[in-house]
Amino acid sequence: MAVREIVLHPHPILRKKAREVTDFGPALQKLIDDMFDTLRWASGVGLAAPQVNVPWRVLVVEYAHEEGVPPERYALVNPKLVYVSPETEIGTEGCLSIPGVFGEVVRARSIIVKGQDRFGHPITIRAHGWLARIFQHEIDHLNGILFIDKAVRTWKEAPEPAEVALQARK
Ligand code: CO
Repeated sequence: MAVREIVLHPHPILRKKAREVTDFGPALQKLIDDMFDTLRWASGVGLAAPQVNVPWRVLVVEYAHEEGVPPERYALVNPKLVYVSPETEIGTEGCLSIPGVFGEVVRARSIIVKGQDRFGHPITIRAHGWLARIFQHEIDHLNGILFIDKAVRTWKEAPEPAEVALQARK
């Protein structure tokens, strides 16, 4: 397990359509383990494979609905949105590949996503609210779409002092 480097906008891989996964062997298992490590290291809630420079249709999500509640964790391969509710809601998003930028994005309030787990078994996930938003954001990444493309407005936030220190070390 290892933390991988997160590629930043405007890296071209973030604009490419990722490929379907057909091989559920060791390379995919390592990728998913590393993506969870990277997501936790970055304190994010979702990560798509192109963000670690791998053009495969893979995403991971780790999201706690409330503080103190164990997070829901998903590794999803070849995800497809099979239902998006007509009801939408607006919410503030950021992206580990676009640090310091936030935006308000309109997303479906509820979704059903089908795909495969890390071993290739079919899975269906129903999600509402923030969890639904995270899946929609990450699936967009697999199609080369970033939240800034959809945001009704965006703004920049001054980085935290710790982030400045981290950037200065690079
Ligand atoms: Co993102």
